[in-house]
Amino acid sequence: MGGFKLAIDGPAGSGKSTISSLLAKKLGWTHIDTGAMYRAVTLYALNNKVNLEDETSYKFLENIKIEYKNNRIYIDNVDVSEDIRNEQINKYVSLVSSFSYVRKKLVEIQKETIQNGNIIMDGRDIGTVVIPEADLKLFLTAHVEERAKRRHKEQKQKGDVHEINQVIEEIKLRDSKDSTRKESPLRKASDAIEFDTTNYTIDQVVDKIIELIKSKEQ
Ligand code: CDP
Ligand code: CDP
Repeated sequence: MGGFKLAIDGPAGSGKSTISSLLAKKLGWTHIDTGAMYRAVTLYALNNKVNLEDETSYKFLENIKIEYKNNRIYIDNVDVSEDIRNEQINKYVSLVSSFSYVRKKLVEIQKETIQNGNIIMDGRDIGTVVIPEADLKLFLTAHVEERAKRRHKEQKQKGDVHEINQVIEEIKLRDSKDSTRKESPLRKASDAIEFDTTNYTIDQVVDKIIELIKSKEQ
C-alpha cells in the first residue's frame, strides 16, 4: 500500500470536505469523501421507496455500483453529486449509515480505493475502522453554533431559507445519532490529533495540516 494515507474524521460542518479537497488540490493528492457514499445509498433507498428501517432493504447494494472518482459520486455510472445534498438526505443518512450491512459494503469499497497513491479520506470512522494504519489521523471539531453558522451560510448562498436554530437542531441530532450508534460510532481514534477549527479560517487549517504532513514525511 504505497503512498501517504491521511484520515480526517469529525462531526458535520467541522470542515472535513472543504479542507480535504483544498489539501488534495494543493498537494496533487486524491480526496475521497466517504460521506458522499452514505448519502448516495440514502438517495437510492429513498428513490426506490424501500423500508429505511429494515436492514434487509439494503440488499440492493449487491446489485448497484457506488463509485467515487474525481470528486464526484456515481450510482451505476450516473453522477448524483448534486442530488445527494438536500434536507431529505440530511434527515435520513444517519439512520441508513447505522446499519452494519451498509457499513460493511461501503467500507469494502473504501478500502479498495485506498490501495495506491497519496490519499486523503474524510468521514466518521476513517481513523478508527477504514484506515487504522493511516500515516496521519486528524479529528476536526468546532462549536456546534459555529458549524451551524457555516452550514446556514452555504444554504443561504444556494437560496435555501432556514432558521439558524433549525440548522443547529439538525446538526445536533445527526451528531448524536452518529456518535451513539453501535456500529463504528463517530469518535476520535486514540492516535488522532484533534483540531478545534472554531476560530480558524480554512486556509489556516490547511496550512497547519500541511505542516503536520511534512513533519510525518521526514
Ligand atoms: O458533510 P456532512 O458532515 O454533513 O456529512 P457527510 O460527511 O456528508 O456524512 C453524512 C452522514 O453519513 C454522516 O452524518 C454519517 O451519518 C454518515 N457517515 C458515516 O456514517 N461514516 C462515514 N465514514 C461518513 C459519513
Ligand atoms: O465536511 P464537513 O461537514 O465537516 O464540513 P464542510 O462541508 O467542509 O464545511 C462546512 C462549511 O464550513 C463550508 O461552507 C466551509 O467553507 C466552511 N468552513 C469555514 O468557514 N471555516 C473552516 N475553518 C472550515 C469550514
